[in-house]
Amino acid sequence: MARPEALLRLEDLHAGYGHVVALRGLDLVVAPGELVCLIGANGAGKTSTLRAISGLLSPSRGRIVFDGRKIHGAAPAEILKAGIAHCPEGRRVFPYLTVEENLAMGAYVRRDRSAIAADVEQVCTHFPILTERRRQMAGTLSGGEQQMLAIARALMARPRLILFDEPSLGLAPTIVESTFAIIADIRRRGTTVLMVEQNAYAALRMADRAYVMETGRIVLAGAARDLLADDHVRRAYLGA
Ligand SMILES: Nc1ncnc2c1ncn2[C@@H]1O[C@H](COP(=O)(O)OP(=O)(O)O)[C@@H](O)[C@H]1O
Ligand SMILES: [Mg+2]
Repeated sequence: MARPEALLRLEDLHAGYGHVVALRGLDLVVAPGELVCLIGANGAGKTSTLRAISGLLSPSRGRIVFDGRKIHGAAPAEILKAGIAHCPEGRRVFPYLTVEENLAMGAYVRRDRSAIAADVEQVCTHFPILTERRRQMAGTLSGGEQQMLAIARALMARPRLILFDEPSLGLAPTIVESTFAIIADIRRRGTTVLMVEQNAYAALRMADRAYVMETGRIVLAGAARDLLADDHVRRAYLGA
């Protein structure tokens, strides 16, 4: 039987910021329906990887293929339109727009205007707190509420792949738990997920597969449950 086509494939990806090299020949694959996590120390290049995928950082070498189409070099709006939404580190909601306006912004590349209004309603049913706050400015929400809004906004693009960058960072433990539960639920409903997470233990517990990144390269890859048992991973990332 033929190998199933990857939804996302990064090949020999290089990128940086001026003379600072961030990615040095990165190879990574995400299959349709998978939840894949990327772990690694600060500065390893995890955020740069997600920024390269969503078109915010131009690769100097290598390829990014999504759903059989090359996307490296495409503008962020084109990549979003192709089906990749990015939930960035630090959430980055529009503080002076209301919750509802933030959600509408998430759909800005869509043409189906009437379906967008219906999706705002739909997304709000999954995040009751957003319904309560829908006319409130996003900057007045708590950190946890802003994270829910950032996730809901990403869903508004009806993506096939969502990128999460450190979704648990800076959140209270109970909110961290519900954030992970929401991400697991998004995958259960059929959206593919690539997640960067400093909480390596929680990430490996929920992922199908994982990649370990060090100084711009993948140094280890495998089934998440195997990496949970791996000596190097346990010592370097799980504090064992
Ligand atoms: N805006 C930037 N300007 C210059 N260097 C950057 C910038 N963002 C990241 N870097 C550098 O790129 C490397 C990878 O960073 P990053 O992708 O943010 O890693 P991670 O998300 O794994 O912590 C680091 O050496 C970092 O200092
Ligand atoms: Mg980062």
